Amino acid sequence: MSTTAPRGDPFKPAARVAGQRQDVWTIVNEAAAASPVQPIVNMGQGFFGYNPPKFALDAAKAALDRVDCNQYSPTKGRPRLKQAIADAHEASFGRKLDPETEVTITTGANEGMLSAFMGFIEPGDEVIIFEPFFDQYISNIEMPGGKIRYVPLHPPKDGAVRTSSAAEWQIDFEELEKTINSKTKMIVLNSPHNPVGKVFSRAELERIGELAIKYNLIILSDEVYDRLYYVPFTRVATLSPELYERTLTVGSAGKAFYATGWRVGFLIGPPHLIKYVAAAHTRICYSSVSPLQEAAAVAFEQADKVGFWDASRAEMKAKIERFCAVFDELGLPYSDPEGGYFVLVNMAAVKMPEDYKFPPHVANRPRDFKLCWFLIHEVGVAAIPPTEFYTDANTHIAEDYLRFAVCKNDDVLETAKERLRGLKKYIRN
Ligand SMILES: Cc1ncc(COP(=O)(O)O)c(C=O)c1O
Repeated sequence: MSTTAPRGDPFKPAARVAGQRQDVWTIVNEAAAASPVQPIVNMGQGFFGYNPPKFALDAAKAALDRVDCNQYSPTKGRPRLKQAIADAHEASFGRKLDPETEVTITTGANEGMLSAFMGFIEPGDEVIIFEPFFDQYISNIEMPGGKIRYVPLHPPKDGAVRTSSAAEWQIDFEELEKTINSKTKMIVLNSPHNPVGKVFSRAELERIGELAIKYNLIILSDEVYDRLYYVPFTRVATLSPELYERTLTVGSAGKAFYATGWRVGFLIGPPHLIKYVAAAHTRICYSSVSPLQEAAAVAFEQADKVGFWDASRAEMKAKIERFCAVFDELGLPYSDPEGGYFVLVNMAAVKMPEDYKFPPHVANRPRDFKLCWFLIHEVGVAAIPPTEFYTDANTHIAEDYLRFAVCKNDDVLETAKERLRGLKKYIRN
């Protein structure tokens, strides 16, 4: 007979997945299902409402007919894709990239970033991220035991009364430098930014770069929206050879080619960093989906030749303008994006009835969660409450905003606009 004491509940989940409060996607979906307006127009999550370009779709279909494309790919990615990515990034990096040592393929940018944190973060190491943040950073940093330090981006003080540029969300550099200590190992940047739509200026990146060099930090630069910029876009890795040596740049074929479900991402950086991202990726999922890597390779080879990047940028900019016209009409100020496809709209002027009934899990969240619920129920349009991308201490910064994703067909944008006009009776400017 064993003398070992019983272990307790074997089904108790690990802390890293247990005890999370109801996430924003569940709340939005639940609100959508319960709304009297059906079907709702979903402008919440950043998935595309239309298909990838034909050259990418044709490549995906053709890949499925090839024996080698249905089997494991090399763990670091298919050679053709790594070459295509190296070639497609040569101009914006201002140098030739070695596809064997400076590019590695991952299962979406998300798993790529998890691999970067798994590859470099030991328990107790600190990672700095800006608020608002892409929510996956949090668990990706915490899984290897990293501790997160948050630095907020500050919106313009008069953001409730004036439409402003996303550029006006500013870093307080003193605050940033004070956050760095001897345990800080990495800083995460995101440009173009989700959800703010900010493209970090060259001057801002230079200052961040100086700090990274001064304190010997790795920079993880999440540039998944790098093809969607409406002002000049700079990659931090290109500012100097010293910065290239300490920067991992993250990309996503899913974002680039409207194929977020393909889960093809990649990291570009110096061999001494890429090597360990690839090592972690091999442990996490061995290799990434073969036929869609092949399709992404063809897509990167074709995109420039057929003018896809310019067309894609012009098309998204037009969607932003088309959609935001309704907020100009309603007198609701927004943060005009410099890149990406998210728009933050300031809804301070929307007065919800005082006795409005919210379910308890919404009632105890910041005002943007209530606005989100209210919009879904009253006009049938779903948006995302951005305080989900803040720590509790800083939710006051964004609780009057809602995030709309405009990567939808124009008729969907028009339906959303028509419905949003229904907010007029609640607006007191
Ligand atoms: C800032 C940011 N980084 C990364 C990702 C994830 O990209 P992928 O779909 O390639 O994993 C997203 C997706 O929404 C994002 O907004």
